[in-house]
Amino acid sequence: MPKYAQDQPAGFKNAIERVAIVGAGGTIGSHIARALLETGKHTVTALSRADSSNKLPTGIHVATVDYADEATLVAALTGQQFLIITMSPTAPRDTHSKLVQAAAKAGVPYIMPNGWGPDIEDVKFGEDTLLGPAAQAARDEIERLGMHWVTVCCGFWYDYSLAGGEARFGFDFAKRALTVYDDGNTKNSTSTLAQVARAVAKVLSLDELPRDENDSSRLTLSTFVNKPVYVKSLVLSQNEMFASVKRVTGTTDADWTITHEDTKTRYAEGLAQVRTGNMAGFGKLLYARAFFPDEAQDLSRKAQNGLLGLPEEEDLDEATRVGIDSVQELQSRAERMAH
Ligand SMILES: NC(=O)c1ccc[n+]([C@@H]2O[C@H](COP(=O)([O-])OP(=O)(O)OC[C@H]3O[C@@H](n4cnc5c(N)ncnc54)[C@H](OP(=O)(O)O)[C@@H]3O)[C@@H](O)[C@H]2O)c1
Repeated sequence: MPKYAQDQPAGFKNAIERVAIVGAGGTIGSHIARALLETGKHTVTALSRADSSNKLPTGIHVATVDYADEATLVAALTGQQFLIITMSPTAPRDTHSKLVQAAAKAGVPYIMPNGWGPDIEDVKFGEDTLLGPAAQAARDEIERLGMHWVTVCCGFWYDYSLAGGEARFGFDFAKRALTVYDDGNTKNSTSTLAQVARAVAKVLSLDELPRDENDSSRLTLSTFVNKPVYVKSLVLSQNEMFASVKRVTGTTDADWTITHEDTKTRYAEGLAQVRTGNMAGFGKLLYARAFFPDEAQDLSRKAQNGLLGLPEEEDLDEATRVGIDSVQELQSRAERMAH
């Protein structure tokens, strides 16, 4: 049964005002936290570990948590309306579930689970990249515990993936080397970190519920309940990225060492590495799979940019510049970037 604002108890405010976020000092979480704060509509609380070295955005509340002590998680989440999880892939596997269980005990109605990437409706892609089953299990757990999920499908983060080393979009800026997958013409839909953050801020700034049955076609948070939010910035091939990189850096082909690799071979190599416990193979298999010429990751036809009032296209060279500017910072996160 749909829920309407008019049927809620007296004092109900039809807005998401109290948002908790895990990873507010991280790659995507820092952008999301800042975008939420900029709306002026949300009180944002970062759940962060006592020994965290991550810098949190100004204006955020901080709740120090210990994942070995559930009471700290429940206390931090009590009174929150929405939990956003942006958790490092290096975190222990049960950390996500600990958060979800604590959120249920604290009575948080909505969770945006870790995901932040592929189209969850592309089951084969999820299976091939090993990401799908774990993400599905996380969503199932949220529903089983009586909560709702909203997940963002945005493809690869363009700026991060450009800057994040050879295993991602093939660029090694320190060595000025590029690995081109197949002929370099396969396109992927990508989103900038800023665009993903804008999408989250838009969704959380919608009214939570339609007023009544006559209002049910209006866009509200409930439109996205237990569904993906699709977003994109740029649909690009590696060759188009490389052309932009050359424009932004003022270089030519002669400045770069270019090698070609077959994506199917590269995927198999990455998978073999992961199967022997070498997680360095994960990025390799994931990005290679996304660039399979016949099954590339492109969710752009589902993108809801228009619905959410987000820019349909962004300036490629500006996004490339942002990515290149972040190379050094990402290189300083050696442990995280190895995955
Ligand atoms: N679409 C893409 O291109 C793309 C690329 C990369 C990742 N992703 C996805 O996005 C998710 C978030 O990635 P990210 O790069 O934003 O994460 P991140 O910056 O590496 O980490 C986010 C937060 O995780 C927390 N954390 C780190 N280690 C932990 C541990 N051992 N136990 C508990 N918490 C820990 C930290 O919070 P505190 O220090 O504050 O506790 C950190 O700020 C990934 O898991 C992945 O699913 C998508």
